Amino acid sequence: MEENDYREHVFLYDLRNSSNRDEEVLWRNHQEMQYSFLLRHGFLEESNVLDLGCGPMRLGVKLIPKLRNGWYFGQDINPETLKYGEEVLREAEINKSANYTLFSSEGFDLSLIDRPIDIAFSNSLFSHLNINSILMCLLKVREVLSPKGIYFSTFFNLESKSSWLDRCVRNKWGHDTITYPSKDPYHYHFQLLKKIAREAGFTMRIVPDYGHPTQTMASFTPRGFLSF
Ligand SMILES: C[S@@+](CC[C@H](N)C(=O)[O-])C[C@H]1O[C@@H](n2cnc3c(N)ncnc32)[C@H](O)[C@@H]1O
Repeated sequence: MEENDYREHVFLYDLRNSSNRDEEVLWRNHQEMQYSFLLRHGFLEESNVLDLGCGPMRLGVKLIPKLRNGWYFGQDINPETLKYGEEVLREAEINKSANYTLFSSEGFDLSLIDRPIDIAFSNSLFSHLNINSILMCLLKVREVLSPKGIYFSTFFNLESKSSWLDRCVRNKWGHDTITYPSKDPYHYHFQLLKKIAREAGFTMRIVPDYGHPTQTMASFTPRGFLSF
C-alpha cells in the first residue's frame, strides 16, 4: 500500500483555475500562517530556503519576491503539482529568472541543491508520511542544512495519554479530521519523533506559535548547534 496518494493527487487541484484563489480560506489563511511564521523565525532576504512537499506555491508565491541574495528551493513528489505552482508564480508576475528552483523527487533526493540551506520548512508533510519516510527526509535535510540552519516541520501530535494504536478525531474549522497510526493522515507521539530526529542528528523541539488548527510545529536543529 502507498503511504499516501500524492503521486497522483494534485494538492488543492480545485483551486487550479480559480480566479479568486486568494479569497479562499484554505489558501489565504494557510499561506499567511506559513509566511508570518517564517518572518518571525529568521527569514531574511538573503536566506536560502528549502520547502519540502512545497505543493502549488502557496508559500513560495509570497517568499520568492522577498528574496534578494537568497534562494527558494521547492521540492515535491508530484511534478504536476509543481507545474500548477509555476502557473501560480506566473499569475503573480514572478518570472522564471527569479531566485527559485522547483524540482520533483522521490526519496527526498535533494542532490540538485547547490548551496547550504538556512531554513528548511514543511507544512503538512509529515502528516502524510510513514516513519521510514520521516527518517529519510530528516537524514537528507541534514546533508544540505547549514550547521547553523534549522528545519521546521508540522506533524499530527498525539497526546502522551492517547494510544498510538487508536484513531484520533480532531476538529478543524468545525469539521472532524481523523488521524491514524498506519495510514494517511498519520499521527505520532512527540517522544517517538524526538528519538527519530536524534537518530538523524537533530534535536527536536515544539514551537508553540505556529497557529495551525490541528497540527503542531516542531523545529529540528543539528545536534551540537543551538539556533536560539
Ligand atoms: C498537504 S500538502 C501541503 C503542501 C504545501 N506544503 C502547502 O502547505 O501548501 C502535502 C504536499 O506534500 C507532497 N508530498 C507527499 N508525499 C511526499 C514525499 N514523499 N516527498 C515529497 N513531497 C511529498 C504532496 O504532493 C503535497 O504537495
